[in-house]
Amino acid sequence: MGYDWHRPLESQTLRFTLLTFLAIVVGGLVLLIPPYFMQGTVETIEGVRPYTALELEGRDLYIREGCNNCHSQMIRPFKAETDRYGPFTMAGENVYERPFLYGSRRTGPDLSRVGGNYPDSWHWIHFRRPQDIEPRSNMPSFAHLYRWPLDLSLTQRKLEVLRTLGHPYADEEVRDAVAEAQAQAAVVVARLRDEQGIQVSETEAGSEIVALIAYMQRLGTDVDLPPIESARAGAAPGRP
Ligand code: HEC
Repeated sequence: MGYDWHRPLESQTLRFTLLTFLAIVVGGLVLLIPPYFMQGTVETIEGVRPYTALELEGRDLYIREGCNNCHSQMIRPFKAETDRYGPFTMAGENVYERPFLYGSRRTGPDLSRVGGNYPDSWHWIHFRRPQDIEPRSNMPSFAHLYRWPLDLSLTQRKLEVLRTLGHPYADEEVRDAVAEAQAQAAVVVARLRDEQGIQVSETEAGSEIVALIAYMQRLGTDVDLPPIESARAGAAPGRP
């Protein structure tokens, strides 16, 4: 009762199929077309820049070595997290993360704001043998990264590709990618040797560990967010 108009349609298989198809097409287009005209739904944040050539290589090593299986890079808006790791992660901070490395496991701590928390020498000691810093750590040793030479043969290409995706690299940054990566690596090595008293051999100076440390030190340093006072009753947690 009340649905009788529908019955004849159901018996006409072809017509019914075509009309169903049409309904889905119209519904699909309504959902698909508007996003093409939107400039983006993520609020941009002042100060967020793409990674330098060396940091980008470090990031690729982070992926290759599977660091994201134990470390997240996303701080959730909960008191326990913001007290420990700092202001929660905002979408705009991750516009140059391709692919994003939010992670879904935290065997080790979140790393999204680890940059600058420790000197380079701390990372130098920690990556070689994490237990020298924290005896109970189950993080594996990454001693091989001190031997394997840093491969910069694809660095320029990587920057070129990221630029096509909208990362605002200047022409010189792309053209001099290798030289800039080497220059930044030299700064890290000089800091380790001269300021922090680490004996860095020539092999180690050209090795992958330098890129990984540069990447670590960059994480979370683009934005200067105020600490969150989550204890204040009723206040929205520290958005700038
Ligand atoms: C098996 C899991 C595991 C893997 C894989 C792992 N880590 Fe860790 N990581 C830990 C644990 C647990 C800790 C905490 C104890 C410590 O400091 O060693 C930690 C600590 C750290 C810290 C210090 C963080 C802080 O705020 O104190 C850094 C930095 C770090 N890891 C980077 C890395 C990087 C980079 C990689 C990949 C090259 C990696 N980890 C791979 C488990 C892991």
